[in-house]
Amino acid sequence: PKRVRVHHLREAKERGERLTMLTAYDAVTAAIFDAAGVDMLLVGDSIGNTMHGHTTTLPVTVDDMIPAGRAVARAAHRAFVVVDLPFGSYEAGPTQALETAVRVMKETGAAAVKFEGGKRVVPQIKALTDAGIPVVGHLGYTPQSEHLLGGPRVQGRGDLAAEHLSEDAVAIAEAGAVAVVLEMVPAPVAEQITEILHVPTIGIGAGAGCDGQVLVWVDMAGMTDWSPRFAKRFGEVGAALRAAATAYVDEVRAGTFPDADHQFEK
Ligand code: KIV
Ligand code: NA
Repeated sequence: PKRVRVHHLREAKERGERLTMLTAYDAVTAAIFDAAGVDMLLVGDSIGNTMHGHTTTLPVTVDDMIPAGRAVARAAHRAFVVVDLPFGSYEAGPTQALETAVRVMKETGAAAVKFEGGKRVVPQIKALTDAGIPVVGHLGYTPQSEHLLGGPRVQGRGDLAAEHLSEDAVAIAEAGAVAVVLEMVPAPVAEQITEILHVPTIGIGAGAGCDGQVLVWVDMAGMTDWSPRFAKRFGEVGAALRAAATAYVDEVRAGTFPDADHQFEK
């Protein structure tokens, strides 16, 4: 299958074809999702929560993101691979953002980077775009600002907040963002932003009016007991994996594994 490239994102929007994105943090899951036809794989800084056992994304470093990004980029044959710039690696300004993004692009083989924020990151988006690095934006609930936002709460509620959100969306799109993630935004607000922008919006908890959808794969697959309200569980893979591990433990203890089929004869 043909590689998804940056121009396909805008073409999909123009044709009204919904884009699909999932997070991935390693080669095993990236290969599975790529084979499933997922258009974009996001090596999210949600790796901090999902894989590294942190309660926020704040402790995640560029050194955490690079091996994950490299593994996903190697495993994905069709998907457009996007790597998150973690907290503290781009906020200082365009120079810092460019240094981080160049390192991520060189060392991972990803096709784009993503970072959070509206007008405040316009200089960063311009600098990366000028350097030939596609940027995906991220607005609405932005987990790296969770202490300022007071935790995971819907953003852009009320006329004024909605107006500010769409101004941010227009600003980052004009700066060169190739797509914009909208997280925990009222569906009508996300729909309106989607109408205004010429680049695709990718929603998470932002309703069906976006040009595409993204979910954290752990939530999508039902890996853990809890998942956010907006994240539908499309499977109960956590329970299936636990059942497999329990069966393995039982058979080893009972001496029924390995059997003749799973050992070597003389
Ligand atoms: O890190 C992440 O998984 C994300 C998505 C929730 C969009 O940024
Ligand atoms: Na993220």
